[in-house]
Amino acid sequence: MLRPLTSHIREDRRPLSLKEYEKLGGYEAVRKVFKSMTPQAVQQLVKDSNLRGRGGAGFSTGLKWSFVPLDAPQPKYLICNADEMEPGTFKDRLLLESAPHQLIEGMILAAFAIQADTSYVFLRWAYKDAAKAIIHAIHEASDAGYLGDNILGTDFSLHMHLHTGVGRYICGEETALLNSLEGKRATPRSKPPFPQVSGLFGKPTIVNNVETLSCLPHIVNYGADWFQKLSRTGDAGTKIYGVSGKVKRPGLWELPMGVTLRELLEDYAGGMWDGHTFRGALPGGASTDFLVEQHLDVKMDYGSVAAAGSRLGTGTVIVLDDKTSVVGFVKNLIHFFAQESCGFCTPCREGLPWIEKILHALENERGQRGDLKILEQHTRLLGPGNTFCALAPGAMEPLQSALKYFRKDFEQYIAAYATPCRSGLMNR
Ligand code: NAI
Repeated sequence: MLRPLTSHIREDRRPLSLKEYEKLGGYEAVRKVFKSMTPQAVQQLVKDSNLRGRGGAGFSTGLKWSFVPLDAPQPKYLICNADEMEPGTFKDRLLLESAPHQLIEGMILAAFAIQADTSYVFLRWAYKDAAKAIIHAIHEASDAGYLGDNILGTDFSLHMHLHTGVGRYICGEETALLNSLEGKRATPRSKPPFPQVSGLFGKPTIVNNVETLSCLPHIVNYGADWFQKLSRTGDAGTKIYGVSGKVKRPGLWELPMGVTLRELLEDYAGGMWDGHTFRGALPGGASTDFLVEQHLDVKMDYGSVAAAGSRLGTGTVIVLDDKTSVVGFVKNLIHFFAQESCGFCTPCREGLPWIEKILHALENERGQRGDLKILEQHTRLLGPGNTFCALAPGAMEPLQSALKYFRKDFEQYIAAYATPCRSGLMNR
């Protein structure tokens, strides 16, 4: 099976009922694990499969699970992070709306591996159809004995709940998500301690992404080697890639990990609109660095994209064309991140609106000498290590790489208004 995550999704995208899912082998992985595997064996299998987190960071899933103290008393928690709000990213939505039982089966397997007795799907507020599909599937799975007390007659119990977020990007950051679930303000926590040892209500907790969890039934059914071989590179499995921007066929495709950016843009997304040319692309949502023409043959896996100076992130590409203002494009993204900052860390809270003001001024041909220097200083001030979470450092990625690859686009606005830099921004 070359497209394990999506090949059973129908044309009309209607979710499969439990019966339909079972007919295709659904919940066989759960039966197999309960019959013949220990939690440690499931963890080892997933480690061997080299499954890396599909939420964007690419952390090894099996390794993450191994930090949970298996013998800690209950409760232990498994959380599915379905708060998909990264700009340009809509891959989890497909799995949530159209393959909810695949996700639930994956969650049962993950919960078994870490011996969690309670699980939550933390869902993006705007994903209303997904909420309906997930609730219905949880009810069906509970009625069939796949969820609840003593699942399928074993001594393993798992209760699953749907929790919808409040439409804030920061809730997708795993520790802000935990605070939100606890009913607190969704500000990120400092790590360490990592959630694996002190997470929801201070208890051991694993937070995994929708696509990551959806891979698990297939890894259990077909094995670690099979999963590795799905990929063209060292990063195992398939990946649901996406493309948006001025391409002929924007969309999502499940493809072997390691397909090149060129193949994705030309063979799948159909190339650029007529009369538009490619200038660059953010490979994995907005909080990644631009790749440009010289990178078109880069393999879209974690290691190769990192070697090209960016990150695979969510694997959903946002394309920049020659008819779109680079400054406006980046300003739009910074506007989003400024709005979505939780306001806790000063560099993020104060820095992002300032950057937005400068970009707005540049876009309106009111740039001043020194503006690019200020922008560059900010990419460092808001960079890794200066904030609790990855929001501000992520926001700096498109900006810093735009300044690197498209500098003239910024400079042209300054040349038009070449007065010395004034202190402060009040006169803009
Ligand atoms: P991170 O690298 O800090 O952590 C990733 C995961 O690995 C977490 O579960 C963390 O607990 C675990 N981890 C990392 N280092 C560890 C260690 N030393 N010991 C134990 N566990 C460890 O990344 P973070 O901040 O969780 O996520 C950032 C990523 O999220 C970005 O790459 C971005 O692309 C992505 N993102 C995705 C969104 C979406 O809608 N899918 C939204 C926003 C960001």
